[in-house]
Amino acid sequence: MAGRFPENFLWGASSSAFQIEGGWDEGGKGMTVADYNSFRRSARQADSKVASDFYHHWKEDIGLMKELGMKIYRFSLSWARIIPDGDGQINQAGLDFYSNVIDCLLENGIQPFVTMYHFDLPYALVEKYNGWEDRRCVYAFERYARLCFEKFGNKVKYWQLINEQNLMIRVDERMNIQEPDPWKADKIRAQMDYHMFLAHALAARACHELIKDGKAGPAVSSTCTYPLTNKPQDVWAAKMNDCMKTVYCLDMHYYGKYPGYYMRYLKERNIVPAMEEGDEEILKAGRMDYIALNYYRTLCASYLPADEEHPAGMRVFRGNEVDFDQYGYCRDEKNVNLKASEYGAQIDPMGLRIVLNDYYSRYHLPMLITENGLGMADELTADGRIHDSYRIDYIRGHLEACALALEDGVELMGYSPWSFMDLLSCHQGFRKRYGFVYVNRDDMDLKDLKRIRKDSFYWYQNVIRTNGEEL
Ligand code: BG6
Repeated sequence: MAGRFPENFLWGASSSAFQIEGGWDEGGKGMTVADYNSFRRSARQADSKVASDFYHHWKEDIGLMKELGMKIYRFSLSWARIIPDGDGQINQAGLDFYSNVIDCLLENGIQPFVTMYHFDLPYALVEKYNGWEDRRCVYAFERYARLCFEKFGNKVKYWQLINEQNLMIRVDERMNIQEPDPWKADKIRAQMDYHMFLAHALAARACHELIKDGKAGPAVSSTCTYPLTNKPQDVWAAKMNDCMKTVYCLDMHYYGKYPGYYMRYLKERNIVPAMEEGDEEILKAGRMDYIALNYYRTLCASYLPADEEHPAGMRVFRGNEVDFDQYGYCRDEKNVNLKASEYGAQIDPMGLRIVLNDYYSRYHLPMLITENGLGMADELTADGRIHDSYRIDYIRGHLEACALALEDGVELMGYSPWSFMDLLSCHQGFRKRYGFVYVNRDDMDLKDLKRIRKDSFYWYQNVIRTNGEEL
């Protein structure tokens, strides 16, 4: 009998540059928006200066990836390591670093799956252009993408061009939006979002042009929102939450235009971005080849009526676990049927099956899970181990959901959870850990940065060895 996972299923694990590399200004690397934001927190938690110190430990770390049995490694390149100021001189030392990492992965039988931009815009582009607000940033990204394709395209076939554009765009800090007026901030946001779609489409086109069998797609932050009740308004609110946060973005990458409800929002809020002649063709020609998706939890929502302050029914509200304002038609609610993690994420393996089926029925494209995992304050116990059975339970549940989605007919290429090793959590530094490999450091004490295999490491190793038969 055939197994529950296809023979060629891509088992992996993930990371991102500013969260693991460290060496933040070594080898000619420029400063990034992610560095800038992490340094603002340096007095109270770890920052990107050392992170997990992959920059100096990469050979040892790739050895551990091999031992884990990984078939793919999903990681990101730091744009500012390759082009320090974003659109100027190319930094050979940066290219060499990634070239060595890619070669070493391949020598160890691991396929590199590469994200091109994971929250870390070169800071110089903010200084020069206010980042994505300016169309020049689009061409800077296209140039960077072409360079990467030319240098690494013979070795890397799968590219995720932008990580979680749909989430990043709503976080002012990540976009470097400092405008206090909410309407003006939303106007800038809409322009930045549009420019990222253009940049994505241009890069996807370049990938097809320059790489034989090259595949390009976004890595989206998936959302699955349940209505609090079966009142039609609540159902609508939940649906619109997913549409306004994620589906509009996937539609842009697939159809090359905003769906009607999104255009309506842009018009009613009077923030339709500036578009140029010829853009439509660019957007349509840069269709995504696959969907990389990040999934951690589900949401729950109830209807929030429009009022005078938000006449279009686009109400700004504060999510209970996220610290940024979002627009939508709904109020964030607690789902009493689900347990929440220590950090408030509503844990829901079944939601993953729902998301996979939903996206597959919409686009019929292959999918890859590029993030999924549980962030916890792991403890190194007296026996020198990390007994993270809660993480094993979490991943087991989500892999069960993947197996069911495969049986439903979803083309799921692989599973690459977050994260290969402990890394800098965006908001909780090294207090919140996701890795299969423990990195022996605290927020304020670098200790020896020793790598220690957690219980989940051995468990996942066996999952991969048995191709998912022993979960
Ligand atoms: C994803 C990001 O949204 O969530 C990762 O792509 C991030 O970069 C992950 O680390 C977990 O979030 P956090 O805030 O716990 O680091």
